[in-house]
Amino acid sequence: MYLLGYDIGSSSVKASLVNAVTGKCVASAFYPKTEAAIIAVKQGWAEQEPANWWENLKLSTKAIMAESGVKPEDIKAIGISYQMHGLVCVDKNQNVLRPAIIWCDSRAVPYGQKAFQTLGEEKCLSHLLNSPGNFTASKLAWIKENEPEIFEKIYKIMLPGDYIAMRLTGEICTTVSGLSEGMFWDFKNNCVADFLMDYYGFDKSIIADIKPTFSEQGRVTAAAAEELGLKEGIPVTYRAGDQPNNALSLNVFNPGEIASTAGTSGVVYGVNGKVNYDPKSRVNTFAHVNHTEEQTRLGVLLCINGTGILNSWIKRTVVPEGVSYAEMNDLAAQAPIGAGGVSILPFGNGAERMLQNKEVGCSINGVNFNLHTRNHIIRAAQEGIVFSFKYGIDIMKGMGMDVQKIHAGHANMFLSPIFRETLAGVTGATIELYDTDGSVGAAKGAGMGAGIYKDNNEAFATLEKLEVIEPKQSDAAAYADAYGRWVEYLEKL
Ligand code: XUL
Repeated sequence: MYLLGYDIGSSSVKASLVNAVTGKCVASAFYPKTEAAIIAVKQGWAEQEPANWWENLKLSTKAIMAESGVKPEDIKAIGISYQMHGLVCVDKNQNVLRPAIIWCDSRAVPYGQKAFQTLGEEKCLSHLLNSPGNFTASKLAWIKENEPEIFEKIYKIMLPGDYIAMRLTGEICTTVSGLSEGMFWDFKNNCVADFLMDYYGFDKSIIADIKPTFSEQGRVTAAAAEELGLKEGIPVTYRAGDQPNNALSLNVFNPGEIASTAGTSGVVYGVNGKVNYDPKSRVNTFAHVNHTEEQTRLGVLLCINGTGILNSWIKRTVVPEGVSYAEMNDLAAQAPIGAGGVSILPFGNGAERMLQNKEVGCSINGVNFNLHTRNHIIRAAQEGIVFSFKYGIDIMKGMGMDVQKIHAGHANMFLSPIFRETLAGVTGATIELYDTDGSVGAAKGAGMGAGIYKDNNEAFATLEKLEVIEPKQSDAAAYADAYGRWVEYLEKL
């Protein structure tokens, strides 16, 4: 008995097949092999073609089916994790009307800001737990004003994961957690946020039907089964944004537990059992996978858009061709803590929520041509990413969240010793790394949704802890000093 999980990321689509009994991943594959493009027609824009997600999903599904030899009829459920806050618009025939406007696209910032002021900060915060900001609803407001001919044709709007589920099952639906990440959910009244829909002038009919996060949300159609080499009728039983899903993958379900990822973007995500928000919306509050009207389970999310994407930019543009990420980590280790005084602000991937949606860009400070080498630059980039995490973690602490232990998958930037040691060193938190990733988590989420597992503890009983990184007291002063310099530089901007 197997479970199939997909993770629709911005740099690739990953598929994993998990043996439901042993909890082990038997095959996984991702496409494309080099990071997928984010189309930026204008400064601050970021779009992707949903059809490309589907093509990459097809390639990765075929690869894992061939590699594992698992029979299609042995796959019992499918789960989907997806890049959050995006906007996919379809017409009545389920045709995509324009490229998806994805999470790091900044064009909608002024729309969200105006809504926040006009509707009132108190009203937005108490109902949405956030400013409408740059999230899906504001992106739709941009389309309404700038592409009215497209807006008129919209039958339903979807998040990237809802779109993939539609391609698999032919059914258009979403979840409360999904609506909350788009600012379409009113937590106070426990319903779709009519007041924001009315303000932006959206008809309620464009919102997809709501299904529980863990539930049957449709079944693979004959046509999709044929395209993917799967069996018709497999149920899709789980979907969640990649950050709540990362928390699920790490068995982070309850108040006080913290998960983190550091892929293209980086996130620190804490579960809260009571309603809480940052009045400046620098960190955001969404419904966690297990949030219900009866049981408050909110995810407080710090997002840094410029995380792994800075590291990959350094790889493409600073280091010689052919140098791997692992080799870059070795080079970085040859520079001292604090990179000899070089500070990098990693904010080159759109408006940063932590900086109240400002687009400050990436910048490098303190380079001395006679002193610094590319090793310092590579290290300063990784440190700069970590320092932005620390800056946001302090905001979370100010909200009363306790960040003493951070759970993360052994993946992406967490593969870098410099990255994780700096994170432990500068925050004082212990980091626990686990053998999992978003696609494996999505497969297990599907097992929960299908009732194969009775609860999260059963689903994640086999989760394997690989490494624990404790903060080194002896380096604390050096990290604090480097961080102090970084903050000073940021605050000057
Ligand atoms: C989280 C966020 C990003 C995307 C990346 O709020 O915007 O982490 O989910 O896929």
